[in-house]
Amino acid sequence: MVKLIGPKKIRTAVFISGAGSNLKNLIKFSLKKFSPIEVNLIVSNNVRAKGLKFAKLYKIKKKVYNYNKKKISEKKILKDLKSNDIKLICLAGFMKILSKDFLRKFKGKILNIHPSLLPKYKGLNTHHRAIQNKEKYSGCTVHFVSSKLDSGKIILQKKVKLSKKETPSSLQKKILKHEHILYPRAISKIFVSL
Ligand code: GRF
Repeated sequence: MVKLIGPKKIRTAVFISGAGSNLKNLIKFSLKKFSPIEVNLIVSNNVRAKGLKFAKLYKIKKKVYNYNKKKISEKKILKDLKSNDIKLICLAGFMKILSKDFLRKFKGKILNIHPSLLPKYKGLNTHHRAIQNKEKYSGCTVHFVSSKLDSGKIILQKKVKLSKKETPSSLQKKILKHEHILYPRAISKIFVSL
């Protein structure tokens, strides 16, 4: 599904819970002239998320929600997305599952990156499971978010070869490098500037 966009960049929010290396990478991508997106808001459920530092570094607005009560938090997020005129959400290591209600309000406008070759290894501990199953290859996937976990339409995937001595941590590092290439490519694939 290719969407034609005008000369203006798409106002984007990136949702994170941790280190934020994909966030940093998306911000850098968004600053390029040819990028179809601009990152206007960083959303997190975790006040200690290391990636929040990129808000200050790149002068981007950030919002943290405590998520004790999901319904209330989502309501607040939706309000902030609206007031910031956000049109696209990129999940990047966001460890909360968005409700069906939330997804309905942003239908077809939420992307996610997952560190496996979906539909294999949905959910958590992907690297550990891939190694245990003696997979020769793993990789990463950028997909649209649907109400079924890690099951939305796939936009792009990158296959990565496992070495004989692979550990979950070495594989995570290896795949993360490819994630940083894949996420911008997937965004460029779906949004074509006029
Ligand atoms: C990435 O491996 C991503 O695929 C997964 O969570 C991790 C986030 O890493 N969903 P970072 O916070 O972007 O460094």
